[in-house]
Amino acid sequence: MSNTPGNLPTHALPSYLQADHLGPWGIYLQQVDRVTPYLGNLARWVETLKRPKRSLIVDVPIELDNGTIAHFEGYRVQHNTSRGPGKGGVRFHQDVTLSEVMALSAWMSIKNAAVNVPYGGAKGGIRVDPKKLSRGELERLTRRYTSEIGLVIGPTKDIPAPDVNTNEQIMAWMMDTYSMNVGETATGVVTGKPIHLGGSLGRREATGRGVYTVGVEAAHHIGLKIEGARVAVQGFGNVGGIAAKLFAEAGARIVAVQDHTGTIANEAGLNVTELLRHVADNGGVGGFPGAEKMEPDAFWGVDCEILIPAALEGQITKANAGRIRAKMVIEGANGPTTPEADDILHDQGVLVLPDVIANAGGVTVSYFEWVQDFSSFFWTEEEINARLVRVMKEAFAGVWQVAQEHKVSLRTATFIVACRRILHAREMRGLYP
Ligand SMILES: NC(=O)c1ccc[n+]([C@@H]2O[C@H](COP(=O)([O-])OP(=O)(O)OC[C@H]3O[C@@H](n4cnc5c(N)ncnc54)[C@H](O)[C@@H]3O)[C@@H](O)[C@H]2O)c1
Repeated sequence: MSNTPGNLPTHALPSYLQADHLGPWGIYLQQVDRVTPYLGNLARWVETLKRPKRSLIVDVPIELDNGTIAHFEGYRVQHNTSRGPGKGGVRFHQDVTLSEVMALSAWMSIKNAAVNVPYGGAKGGIRVDPKKLSRGELERLTRRYTSEIGLVIGPTKDIPAPDVNTNEQIMAWMMDTYSMNVGETATGVVTGKPIHLGGSLGRREATGRGVYTVGVEAAHHIGLKIEGARVAVQGFGNVGGIAAKLFAEAGARIVAVQDHTGTIANEAGLNVTELLRHVADNGGVGGFPGAEKMEPDAFWGVDCEILIPAALEGQITKANAGRIRAKMVIEGANGPTTPEADDILHDQGVLVLPDVIANAGGVTVSYFEWVQDFSSFFWTEEEINARLVRVMKEAFAGVWQVAQEHKVSLRTATFIVACRRILHAREMRGLYP
């Protein structure tokens, strides 16, 4: 332990990370450093946010269809459980690293505290390209991974959910494997399940609905009318497609959409219902008849009031941030804006609604799913949507107020609200033993 000039005790980095190559965890640490001055006496506990509570690395061996044995690296990180059990998705991707899973688990702690659902933060992943596996191999991989992390997950311990390249089917296999191992059906061990296996109505649309809800609230604050507003969306999957649909239904014009198959534009507004159908039939927006084709890079300079990145991490960078014309960026994706780009947007007066609040609708309805599983009593879609909108509006109002009070960005304000909640819980619980 050493002392910083501010006399706050700091610890060396854990030996399992390389200081010169911190990856996404390094970005998260910078974000925590930014909020520390606003934490008052709670800052004494801030080190607890800078090291995950528990990081499990597992070997996941499976027999491939051709008879060979393959080994994959799997992770489950529980960043913080001061406010409740761990909660966060499982990502299957060839580039997954421990640093990435650590950062994603920490952002889940922040997100869950920001919307005030009683969870800590966790995340998991397997370093694999699932597109290269057969369905049988994918099932064996999922089941073995679930067994390996079975030590630390459970309905009251840590509840995984889908993330990049994982879906309802994977959640069903995870739930079944865990249930077989404990000897009873435990639907509450994962969320994002199929409806007939304890899933929740409204879960599929929840993240997009949350994006739309905070967008409308923020627009109101800055005097931007949704009716007639021009919206550009990157990513037309679960999050981007639903958000675009809701904005269009409210009278906005979706003027440009980009996905992995192409970039399309229509100044008069794309027909979102037809575009959703086209994507369902063709796998992407490319080739949609009711639009002009654009060069991918031109997407960032499209004239619009609202820009919604809802695809991947690291999309808005210092190379394109200066060209963005929107008044408001709503982060549907996790981590779409690099810290340098964040500063550029701030200097240009662009309001950024950060991922840690803007895409929290998904985990909010995951929380509803978990509550419904415990009581084995399921709510109507109207009830779920109404509760979701209430949670998102209340959370956003709190963040907005803190941003005004301290004259900070909405990202820092969200971190302030969330870190205070987490550290207050930590302080009230005290250190064991
Ligand atoms: N689904 C949720 O509930 C949820 C919740 C919180 C955050 N998120 C985040 O939202 C983002 C999108 O998730 P999703 O569930 O909508 O995924 P999805 O797979 O349904 O859709 C992803 C979209 O991104 C597009 N895309 C992929 N590569 C691209 C590229 N290189 N350029 C442009 N577009 C590209 C795809 O074509 C697709 O339209 C991810 O960052 C995810 O972590 C999702």
